[in-house]
Amino acid sequence: MPDLAVTLDPAMSAVLDQVLLGLLPADALPAADVFLDEEGAPVARREAGRLVALRPARWPAPAEVRTDKPVVVAGAGEIPAGDLPTGAVVLLAAGGIRIDDARWPAWAAAWSHGAASVVQMPVPPADAATRAAELAAAYSSGPLLEVDTVAHGVGAGRTLFFTGLSGSGKSTVARTLVERLAGSRTITLLDGDVVRTHLSKGLGFSAADRDTNIRRIGWVAAEVTKHGGLAVCAPIAPYDETRRWVRERVEAAGGPGAFVLVWISTPLEVCEARDVKGLYAKARAGEITGFTGIDDPYEAPADAELVIDTSLVSLDDAVDRVIAFLEQP
Ligand code: ADX
Repeated sequence: MPDLAVTLDPAMSAVLDQVLLGLLPADALPAADVFLDEEGAPVARREAGRLVALRPARWPAPAEVRTDKPVVVAGAGEIPAGDLPTGAVVLLAAGGIRIDDARWPAWAAAWSHGAASVVQMPVPPADAATRAAELAAAYSSGPLLEVDTVAHGVGAGRTLFFTGLSGSGKSTVARTLVERLAGSRTITLLDGDVVRTHLSKGLGFSAADRDTNIRRIGWVAAEVTKHGGLAVCAPIAPYDETRRWVRERVEAAGGPGAFVLVWISTPLEVCEARDVKGLYAKARAGEITGFTGIDDPYEAPADAELVIDTSLVSLDDAVDRVIAFLEQP
């Protein structure tokens, strides 16, 4: 009979790691002969009823770190509210969190401060409180200490996503904003036209290509957000569903409030009268087809945090409004 292989998502992968460390019984895992990670690489197999790891352990085993010191059990994402007793060992429940999560160093550092050492465990942070006694006993013969904790603030990373018609003033507002903020923080500007010469080179203006273009921008913006930067994006982004996909990704990376949608709502007549690149004239003459606002849709957002019409608001005032929004507590 061929081996039964099961692919583990991050949550199940944390269960596997706990079974390997003896923190959970083997039957916590689905019945399978081989366990694969999300890339399809085998990470463990059952041999003669025993579970054998196929790659080096990522988490120290309880026996390796066994101590007689007092221990604190905490979930990753929580940080101590006050001073920690010196000499305590912190058992940090960090299972199910992706290895490339940019918040790791901040979480570990918050506890290293004042504590003798931080030991990471593959237990989900949500289980830290309910399983504290059992986990403490597995790693230490010392007492379990109660410590007040607070949630670690959302990383300061954010994405400012400008959307609007060609010629609406998105790029001008975005660039001026970046000039004003430069020096105060790290900023990544993902302007529509510039992205199309690099990241999205070769893509056209079909619905599918526009969708791919915006998802690429969103993917990069989410990474920047995750690492505490400010991503400023300024594509047309005409489709509601695609913009919402970007919002979801960015909020998953930076928390609620990390995604700020700014609709530059300058009316079509004004954009067309400006016709900075002469493209509206070409679209009207039928030399370009599928031009946003002429013969291709622009879906006005209903979820914008800010709406700015540059035919009514000066450039300076537009930038002030965005900065005021960012500075809101
Ligand atoms: S999006 O729809 O995929 O978000 P993006 O912001 O990257 O568009 O590119 C828009 C720019 O491409 C416009 O400012 C304009 O200069 C140029 N462009 C060329 N063809 C079109 C078209 N058919 N529709 C809209 N913009 C176009």
